[in-house]
Amino acid sequence: DRKIRIAPSILSADFANFGAEIRAIEDQGADWVHVDVMDGHFVPNLTFGPPAVKAFRPHVRTFMDVHLMIAPVDAYIEAYADAGADMITAHVEAGPHPHRTLQAIRATGKKAGIALNPGTPAEAVDYLLDLCDMVLVMTVNPGFGGQKFIHSQLDKIARIRALIGDRPIHIQVDGGVDPTTAPLVAKAGADVLVAGSAVFKGGSVDSPQTYGANMRAI
Ligand code: DX5
Ligand code: ZN
Repeated sequence: DRKIRIAPSILSADFANFGAEIRAIEDQGADWVHVDVMDGHFVPNLTFGPPAVKAFRPHVRTFMDVHLMIAPVDAYIEAYADAGADMITAHVEAGPHPHRTLQAIRATGKKAGIALNPGTPAEAVDYLLDLCDMVLVMTVNPGFGGQKFIHSQLDKIARIRALIGDRPIHIQVDGGVDPTTAPLVAKAGADVLVAGSAVFKGGSVDSPQTYGANMRAI
């Protein structure tokens, strides 16, 4: 009954052709474009600053879902909003004031998401649900694509779905989502599935039809 959306992560795309890759995945049926921002501090990898996200913006026709794996995060919210993010998701572990962080994201007029690392309990969102449009459940430890799905998170997804009740809040699952794990997370209550390696594997800007086949298999 719940519509399942696929949000390919461009962390697994060709880093020399982001514009073409974004157009290709959207032509092939992507619902959202998931942009993984990493600062080399909160996570052991470094990716896109606001200028890069601004450069992606004109190529995105669907919805640019920006996942901030950065800490501290508040100082950068406005810059990613100005860069054109449609949704800004911050990590609950990024600092002592996730409630204020969500208020700051909402103040920019963008959709607000809160992300939980695998070790963070579902109850961490108890006092944040009225301020967010989405809860992102990490099913890998953040920092890289192509990692193995952490099955213990399925129970957390179900708990969060119960906490959400009938509020219009998405549950996004991110990390190790592929044709085998996708049905498990959908059954547990997720409705937005991020996939990087499972979407981009075996394809290229010259053979984008593989992206479509990979997305349909999820
Ligand atoms: C990991 C990122 C994920 C990652 C997903 O820190 O947040 O979005 O790119 O990649 P796969 O789908 O390959 O696990
Ligand atoms: Zn992500």
